[in-house]
Amino acid sequence: MQTVLVINSKGGSGKTTIASNLASLFAASHLKTALMDYDPQGSSLHWNQLREQGDSPAIHMVDASHFKVGVTRTFQLRIPHNTERVVIDAPAGMCKKILNEMVIKADVIIVPVVPSPIDIHASSEFIYELKLIINACRHNHTIIGVVANRIRAKKALYRPLKHFLDELNIPFVAALADTDNYIRAVESGLGVHELSPQTVRLELSQWLPLVKWLAAHSSVSHRSQSVPLMAGSARG
Ligand SMILES: Nc1ncnc2c1ncn2[C@@H]1O[C@H](COP(=O)(O)OP(=O)(O)O)[C@@H](O)[C@H]1O
Ligand SMILES: [Mg+2]
Repeated sequence: MQTVLVINSKGGSGKTTIASNLASLFAASHLKTALMDYDPQGSSLHWNQLREQGDSPAIHMVDASHFKVGVTRTFQLRIPHNTERVVIDAPAGMCKKILNEMVIKADVIIVPVVPSPIDIHASSEFIYELKLIINACRHNHTIIGVVANRIRAKKALYRPLKHFLDELNIPFVAALADTDNYIRAVESGLGVHELSPQTVRLELSQWLPLVKWLAAHSSVSHRSQSVPLMAGSARG
C-alpha cells in the first residue's frame, strides 16, 4: 500500500484538485483506492458524490474531518483490507494533532504551491515544519515532493522556492498548468485523465513526471508497483 498525503497550510493551492485527480487516476488503473477527506469543507466528498452518479471506477471515501463520537479514531479511519493506494486531502491550516496524524500515515507527501510570492513564502515555512515532523518520527522514510500548480508564464517566480528546496534536498516533481479542464473534470467527479484524450494532452504530459515519481517511491513499503495508465483510461 502507498499513502500519498496532499498538503499545504495555504488554501487554494490545489490540494483537493491534485488529491481527487490522483485518486481517480489510481482507481482507473485498477488499483484499489481510498480517498480520505480531512477538510471540514468536504470538497473531496462532494466530488466523489458527483463521481458516483456516473460509471467511473469506485473510490472508497473516508470522512476524516471531525472526530466521530462513539467510535475510536482507528475505526473511523478504517479502509478495506485490500486497499492499494490511499490519498489524503488535507485541509488548509490545521492543528498539530491532525497534522501529525496525517504525516505519520504518509509514505509520500505532495505539496502543491501556486505561483504567488505570498504562497511561496508561506509554503517554504510549511515545508520546513513538515521536515521537522518527519525527522522527529521514528521511521522517517517519508518523501516530500513539490508540485507547482496553476502555473502561467512566469516560472521564474518559483526560483527562491527552488533554492530553498535544493537546500533541503526536496524535488520539484511536476508543474501543472492553470487550465479549464481541471474545472470541467471536477464538475463531473472525474480526473482530467478521464476526459476526452485529445482535449487533455497538455495535462496528461504534465502529470507524467508526478506519476513516475510516485511509482518510483511505491516500492519502499508497498506491495503493488504498477504505474497508473494515463491515457489508456480516458473517455471518448
Ligand atoms: N491546475 C489548475 N487549473 C485550473 N484550476 C485549478 C487548478 N488547480 C486548482 N484549481 C482551482 O483552484 C481552486 C482551488 O483549488 P483546490 O484544489 O480546491 O485548492 P485547495 O484544496 O488547496 O484549497 C479550485 O476552484 C480549483 O478548481
Ligand atoms: Mg481542498
